[in-house]
Amino acid sequence: MGLCTSSLSGSDRLQDKFYQTKKWKYTIKDRTKLKQVENIVKPFILDDAVYKRVCDVMLDNFNKGLGKETNAEARVKMFPTYVRSVPDGTEEGDFLALDLGGTNFRVLLISLKGQEVNMESKIFLIPQHIMLGTGIQLFDHIADCIYKFMKEQKIEKKTLPLGFTFSFPCKQLGLAKAKLTTWTKGFKCEGVEGNDIVQLLHEAIKRKGDMEVECLAVINDTVGALMSCAHSDRQCAIGLILGTGTNACYIEKLENVGLWDSDYNDPKEVIINTEWGAMGDDGGLDFLITEYDKHVDKHSINGGKQIYEKMISGMYMGEIVRLVLEKLRRNGLLFGGVGSEELSKRGRFYTKYVSEIESDVDESDFKSTKQVFEELELTNYTDEDCRIALYVCSLVSTRAAYLASAGIATLLNKMGRKDVSVAVDGSLYRFHPHFHDLMVEKIEKLVTPGIRFKLMLSHDGSGKGAALVAAVANRLRDEEAKKEKDCKPNED
Ligand code: BGC
Repeated sequence: MGLCTSSLSGSDRLQDKFYQTKKWKYTIKDRTKLKQVENIVKPFILDDAVYKRVCDVMLDNFNKGLGKETNAEARVKMFPTYVRSVPDGTEEGDFLALDLGGTNFRVLLISLKGQEVNMESKIFLIPQHIMLGTGIQLFDHIADCIYKFMKEQKIEKKTLPLGFTFSFPCKQLGLAKAKLTTWTKGFKCEGVEGNDIVQLLHEAIKRKGDMEVECLAVINDTVGALMSCAHSDRQCAIGLILGTGTNACYIEKLENVGLWDSDYNDPKEVIINTEWGAMGDDGGLDFLITEYDKHVDKHSINGGKQIYEKMISGMYMGEIVRLVLEKLRRNGLLFGGVGSEELSKRGRFYTKYVSEIESDVDESDFKSTKQVFEELELTNYTDEDCRIALYVCSLVSTRAAYLASAGIATLLNKMGRKDVSVAVDGSLYRFHPHFHDLMVEKIEKLVTPGIRFKLMLSHDGSGKGAALVAAVANRLRDEEAKKEKDCKPNED
């Protein structure tokens, strides 16, 4: 499943990886140097007892978030999404979808016809000044992009229902009403926190004029991933994102949701957006936090927040690696102690470098690693440096994969279903060569015996998922309208 593309099995590939990364030890002849390097990277090597403790903390956070009395002070908010049922494959029609969650913003036109899904989409950049500007600027920019897209597709005269994937923590007050609680992932637009983003979107569409668009549903990207997979796999009950940020959602029984304030009709379940990235914001993960994590947090625009996310996701992983490499260099253990201006720049070591370096399987040439070094204008490197850099990358990414596994194992154990498919999306999971295998290996260790799971790559959940939720909302709305009409006394 997922990323498995080579002919090796998952465990063969992992063995191979461990062989590669451990081998550096045997090639460093200087025992003192070896010890010094090991001392610096040690905090990333955690045993299963630590990951089990993470599961306990996670479960505690989940329960606190779900409880009516405890939710207010809980850090992990466990937002009920008002998405009660997964698609049944009968959804039909043309829908617009918006996907906002990182530096790119997408507008999509999606045609659903049973299992058949056709999509047209366009990516727009969200410039830094808009990410840090005002909410009005952000939503005006979004409305402009929608208009451009509709013109290009020649659908500007049509009235289309729209699903909005908005991948930030939102308290949902209904399917099409969601208040942003706090920005994450480098966004900080003034005047949006505490407000209904659907209303902000509708106001911007009105300001723009000349188009008829109505947002029927707003969903988180985790929900999109779940919906998109559930369209073809009925066992799918968890959505997981490992990209710029991280988060998971799952299907919970209403009886366990103390917070639930709506009806208890069938299906007696609702999708919960956990917003697990906030775990540790109360100090609950201090037992494993390293000096590097503290540094990353201190220099972020949301200090003290999203602690678990900052140890896992793509927005931060490269920076953690860079800080370790810099420490090794300063101690004369890497690049002969000579760095570069690039390597010392905050944020300059991208997370994609971690995936590239760890893709170097032919250790005799370290092609990708050397290319990354060149990009960082490092000239003074040896094969031993390549080996050490690979080791650092592998330790940081392995910790991330294991931490995410602890989260998923906690959800699987909590749900107690026998067979669960987990829909996974996000650039980190997609492009890292070992993330999938590492997760499978660790979840197996942490999950209650007897529970079977599958990690499935979810295809374009943010687009397709939003369209599916909008389609269901549209159908329900039509049904309601019909019911009302049928109930009205005949006026003729
Ligand atoms: C956001 C979540 C989102 C996740 C993945 C986090 O920063 O708070 O809402 O699902 O990133 O995109």
